Amino acid sequence: MKDIASMTIYQVYPRSFYDTNKDGVGDIPGVTAKLDYIQSLGIQMIWINPFYPSPQNDNGYDISNYTAIDPLFGTMADFEELVSEAKKRQMGIMIDLVLNHTSTEHEWFQKALAGDPYYRDFYYFREGRSDGSAPTNWESKFGGSAWEKLPNKNEYYLHLYDVTQADLNWENRNVRQALYDVVHFWMTKGVSGFRLDVLNVISKPARFEDDLLGDGKRFYTDGPKIHHYLKELHASTFGPLSLVTVGEMSSTNVENCIRYSNPNEKELNMVFHFHHLKVDYKDGKKWQLDRVRFAELKELFHSWQIEMADGGGWDALFWNNHDQPRALGRFVSDKSEYHYQAATLLAATIHFMRGTPYVYMGEEIGMINPKFTEIDKYRDIETINHYNILQNDGFTEQETMNIIKERSRDNSRIPMQWDSSHYAGFSSVEPFYPISDSKKWINVAESVTNEQSIFYFYKKLIQLRKELDVIQKGSYIPLYLEQERVISYLRKNDTTELLTIHYYGEEPVQLQLPDHFLEAEILLSNSDRQELTKQIKLKPYETLAVIRQD
Ligand code: GLC
Ligand code: CA
Repeated sequence: MKDIASMTIYQVYPRSFYDTNKDGVGDIPGVTAKLDYIQSLGIQMIWINPFYPSPQNDNGYDISNYTAIDPLFGTMADFEELVSEAKKRQMGIMIDLVLNHTSTEHEWFQKALAGDPYYRDFYYFREGRSDGSAPTNWESKFGGSAWEKLPNKNEYYLHLYDVTQADLNWENRNVRQALYDVVHFWMTKGVSGFRLDVLNVISKPARFEDDLLGDGKRFYTDGPKIHHYLKELHASTFGPLSLVTVGEMSSTNVENCIRYSNPNEKELNMVFHFHHLKVDYKDGKKWQLDRVRFAELKELFHSWQIEMADGGGWDALFWNNHDQPRALGRFVSDKSEYHYQAATLLAATIHFMRGTPYVYMGEEIGMINPKFTEIDKYRDIETINHYNILQNDGFTEQETMNIIKERSRDNSRIPMQWDSSHYAGFSSVEPFYPISDSKKWINVAESVTNEQSIFYFYKKLIQLRKELDVIQKGSYIPLYLEQERVISYLRKNDTTELLTIHYYGEEPVQLQLPDHFLEAEILLSNSDRQELTKQIKLKPYETLAVIRQD
């Protein structure tokens, strides 16, 4: 199962994938029902976002019981069936574990609140300052203070995310053991992998102090004991088995990512990091709009590819997930006239890189952001918090919504578009999230019947990765650096050279092909290019891969 260089992983946000029991919310039987579809793409593993019991304040990332299934999504028997049906189709299930925090409704937190000293030490309770204010100036990643005051006491608990997501105290050996037991529980259920939520923030500093330069991030990001904890997690749980592990790493750097993912370090198989998805943030701020800085995007891709390879690390390759507005319409046009070119350009750009590609549900048919303009269409807690913050900061309704519709995570959380029917084939009742009008022209039913669709382009990319050693293991050499909107690289091994060119613009651009590629074969193209010439005039959003053997 575990050949991370040749596999492609598909991400399912279960709430929005497929609803089988007609309550408007996608569910686990809905994933099982669509396994044949996922398999038909050539996928080897499916990452499913959290389905555990939860008050759902952060759509399940606020877990109140780690070892059960929320009835909203089904039963444990449904989950077992999913695992076994996936296995029958040579696919593994990767579950999503949130080990940094629990819901404040979790039994541990409830016992801590009731004064049980054993469980109080599971979290970070700290006294407020003498004037009653929070222990430090740290900010929550969802807005506001990272500390929440307990009623009638000058005491606070730490939450780097929502107030209902209390951070666990990894310093406490009992906490770590309790979490390793959780990992074991799911290993015995036959899961094949783990996606580990915000894993690089679990190690907090020994002393909490004000951050005079920022929001506190620098004290706990890739924190003091992080590598020690990950080695212990590995040795105590999935290490001895060949499971696939990926850590979500917030605001990290390449040195730490090499350590997280180099096999010799015995921590994880690979990492998600997000720098390439911040190149349209203004001064690092997500809730301020800016244009895409392509030079920066390109530099990030190239430097991470090279440095991770040099250090023996391994990347997860992705544009999209449930926390990001879709890349289509963000880095490239989402107009229907360019739909096929733009979507396939994005795909080819990362699928030929060194790492393990992830496809987020709907990406393979070119789903686009709905960019809803009324706040009542949004469900996400981070979005609602920032709506309020922007309004308090004096932005008009229109200005606020201009930002929200570009940046909200709900852009990617709307229902999967299976067909063009009223509820997009997702459910037969009104869904939890609004349906996008784009279902009329972007849907699975249409994609799978058209051999020229985005879906078949993805299928081809996934197949090529399985077949070609040069994609899996070849070295990586950046090319055409002077062209701002061209991302191009050569992959190379002893026998093969694969040249890929990806053009992020609409105005025609001219490139010169290296002489020894004139006789090469076109491996993949999203335009009608039939032959190679010395001068290549790139079409809007063109992607081209050419291969030559020695
Ligand atoms: C991760 C998840 C995100 C969640 C956050 C807090 O970033 O992907 O959806 O809100 O962690 O658990
Ligand atoms: Ca349902």
